[in-house]
Amino acid sequence: MSSRPDRYAVIGNPIAHSKSPDIHARFAAATAQHLQYERLLAPLDGFAAAVRDFIGGGGKGLNVTVPFKLEAHAFATVLTERARAAGAVNTLRFDGADILGDNTDGVGLVTDIVKNAGVAVQSKKVLLLGAGGAARGVVLPLLMESPRELVIANRTLARAQELADTFGAQGPVRASDFGSVSDEFDIVINATSASLADEVPPVAPTVFGPETLAYDMMYGKANTAFMRFALDHGAAVRDGLGMLVEQAAESFFVWRGVRPDTAAVFAELRARL
Ligand code: ATR
Repeated sequence: MSSRPDRYAVIGNPIAHSKSPDIHARFAAATAQHLQYERLLAPLDGFAAAVRDFIGGGGKGLNVTVPFKLEAHAFATVLTERARAAGAVNTLRFDGADILGDNTDGVGLVTDIVKNAGVAVQSKKVLLLGAGGAARGVVLPLLMESPRELVIANRTLARAQELADTFGAQGPVRASDFGSVSDEFDIVINATSASLADEVPPVAPTVFGPETLAYDMMYGKANTAFMRFALDHGAAVRDGLGMLVEQAAESFFVWRGVRPDTAAVFAELRARL
């Protein structure tokens, strides 16, 4: 191939740690897509300028990470329904004059649970811990799977209530504080940032049972505090590495119209954590 590869990148601050270039390079090789994918460090006050430069240089699309997902939502001229619902954008695609904003985080989580872990969400009792940006991004994709109920529990009840109100028309969702949930759930998803401090959201151990999947949206070399807590109370556990790979695959599909296989990339990333 002699033409120049299409340019993509992940933009954030910090960005050096991002695994996205590695993931997308593997997807491109596996699907014979002619593209290059870089890391883009934008100044904290320079997101829009950095994106304009990238577009000016012929860039075709960006992944957006901390702390720019809200700015990317505002920057997009066209939003997908799931990006509007998430209130945040992790994928930009530059189509002529249009800037498409999408959010693939939620579908990444759902695909990892349903396809990779083999646990259906349909008709299940789902407990979502947290009501910040990470939680908000997954509410609509979870409701689209028709759970029996989705309970959003948060330290600050008002934030959970706001999410439940926002999505109440989309499915059976309600808000709770941590102290009021004690019955067993089929799926418990930790979308709080507690794992960053090696803390566990203060949820009763009775939410876990032998049939429960406890899912932490964070990942690392070792199990998170939440995963250790859930394991101690009999649940099966999974971390967010699969969500990372699946959201990347969905972004790749948004840009290229080709769906890469994720299993090999997931296994390689796991081995190198
Ligand atoms: P993110 O984008 O990662 O979701 P965020 O919007 O700051 O970040 O939200 C962080 C979430 O983690 C919130 O739900 C927060 O609870 P509050 O809304 O009550 O602040 C939750 N959180 C953070 N640390 C926690 C802890 N130690 N225990 C329980 N919840 C915690």
